[in-house]
Amino acid sequence: MAASERPAVEAIGVTRIIEGAVSTTLVQDINLDIPKGQFAVITGPSGSGKSSLLYILGLLDRPTKGSVRLDGRETAGLDAEALADLRLTQLGFVFQFHFLLPEFSALENVALPLRRLGRDSDTTILARAQSLLEEFGLGGMSHKRPDQLSGGERQRVALARALVNKPLVVLADEPTGNLDSRNSELVFDLFSRLAKAGQTIVAVTHDMELAKRADRRIRMVDGRVVADEH
Ligand SMILES: Nc1ncnc2c1ncn2[C@@H]1O[C@H](COP(=O)(O)OP(=O)(O)OP(=O)(O)O)[C@@H](O)[C@H]1O
Ligand SMILES: [Mg+2]
Repeated sequence: MAASERPAVEAIGVTRIIEGAVSTTLVQDINLDIPKGQFAVITGPSGSGKSSLLYILGLLDRPTKGSVRLDGRETAGLDAEALADLRLTQLGFVFQFHFLLPEFSALENVALPLRRLGRDSDTTILARAQSLLEEFGLGGMSHKRPDQLSGGERQRVALARALVNKPLVVLADEPTGNLDSRNSELVFDLFSRLAKAGQTIVAVTHDMELAKRADRRIRMVDGRVVADEH
């Protein structure tokens, strides 16, 4: 299969159980493949396993059964270090709360993953970070700290940080959960635009209106996929 035809990310028979006095099944028997350049959303009621699935796809948690493939590559046998390396090089994360570093400027926050990679010169790193901020309408705000930005601006900085390493997949867990409708639409419009340019995006949302803007809606109930609408 040609590289471009391999799904960006696949879940194959993924089940995640937390053992305890009473064991909890977070997700059960999930089979999904997300093609490159697709903007998919995961919807479903609270507690249905949306975040759990996203963490497994993002290699932040491991399935009890089944496996996850990134660009056709099996990840089940990889050690913690190899998984951390894949997260840094292939995945970008956006969460409901931005998790930007409060002491750092927007520019430095966006530059951080590139600094961790350590492949480019300082000049190249800062130029790439600045151009992403400009692309998201934040060119004039690169020197500001997160507390000097609005919620919507912070979330766009967080998105720029998630994209700076040119990840194979961006995973977003309720990225608009904290935003008003105008800013939420802005973020979803950015996702659509990025996907049209080839970026793969998987986002969790409660908002069915926003979900309509995606290429695909995967609905979960009780840890299972119950609908998958393309
Ligand atoms: N570490 C854990 N230990 C035990 N149960 C957990 C753990 N993490 C999640 N759960 C349970 O697993 C189920 C799925 O949780 P998950 O966070 O994936 O749901 P969600 O769909 O993201 O919900 P929400 O919309 O509220 O964010 C819930 O019933 C939750 O209480
Ligand atoms: Mg959740």
